[in-house]
Amino acid sequence: MVKIAEITAQGMDTKKFIDEKTKEIATTVGSGLAINALSGGVDSSAVTMLGHKALGKRLKTYFINNGIMREGEPERVVALFKGFGVTVELLDAQAEFFKALKGITDPEQKREAITQTFYKNVFGRIVKESGAKYLLQGTILTDVDETIAGIKRQHNVFEQLGIDPQAAFGYKIIEPLVQLRKDGVRKVAEALGLPKVVYDRMPFPGPALSARVIGEATPERIKTARRATAIVEEEFSAVNAFQYMAILHEDRVTGIRAGKREFGQQIEIRCWDSIDARVASPTRLPFEMLEKVSKRMIAEVPGVVSVTYNITTKPPSTIEAV
Ligand code: XMP
Repeated sequence: MVKIAEITAQGMDTKKFIDEKTKEIATTVGSGLAINALSGGVDSSAVTMLGHKALGKRLKTYFINNGIMREGEPERVVALFKGFGVTVELLDAQAEFFKALKGITDPEQKREAITQTFYKNVFGRIVKESGAKYLLQGTILTDVDETIAGIKRQHNVFEQLGIDPQAAFGYKIIEPLVQLRKDGVRKVAEALGLPKVVYDRMPFPGPALSARVIGEATPERIKTARRATAIVEEEFSAVNAFQYMAILHEDRVTGIRAGKREFGQQIEIRCWDSIDARVASPTRLPFEMLEKVSKRMIAEVPGVVSVTYNITTKPPSTIEAV
């Protein structure tokens, strides 16, 4: 296995990094075409800008609407990048992803179902239709570390696991950010001219809201997690934390609403302080803030009767629940 040489945020010459990676992408792709999927997160946004710098119109950028993204995200990302002169094609793959997730409750099997749907079905199809030979993607070093350590199979790691994307999916993968961690990617994104709402954006996992639904990720349960996520993001927007989220639990608990028993759902809130996601600790939020978010969950998310706040550190917890 090839050891990846880490470039730390502190030790990086950002301009040099961008110049080198732009040249590398241009040389590797040659006169052909490449594709990439933009999710709106800092990693894929940085890769999109690097790729366009290197390839111009020979990079085709897609937003895959997999049905498990946050509220309003597909339209928001397409509109944002239009403003940077980057055309993003919106591709509706919701039915395909929900079909793949149907009946699966095991966390790693869920991750695998998403990986296969993205890489084999959706990208495989786009590559064939467009004639591209390369997929550009924003894998970072933390994704590789956690996958190799067997903690979580990150949806975007292949070669480091001995999987050859060319043989498995029919195209090659270019990973310009693989030597960096999140803090390094933020520096690169800023230097590429992306606005603070992008380079400072909190991380969001590749398996999206399915990483925040314990048990089966049905359209209905994703809808619940999506609404709960929107509330947490609104209420915590002024909190200077690494990442915050809402998780829908599988177990139900007995609650009481309007004087009647309700065997309802549970939402767990997490809010993390961290530099690079390797270790993290719960943010010491004011209790009033937690109370407000809890009240909104109960009132605005149908069927929720319990709201908890995770006070565990990573490790042994991880940032996402699945
Ligand atoms: P965990 O939950 O492993 O997360 O402590 C560490 C960081 O990685 C994000 N995360 C992912 N990012 N693909 C990604 O691109 C994934 O499969 C994935 N799983 C977790 C998570 O949000 C956190 O910032």
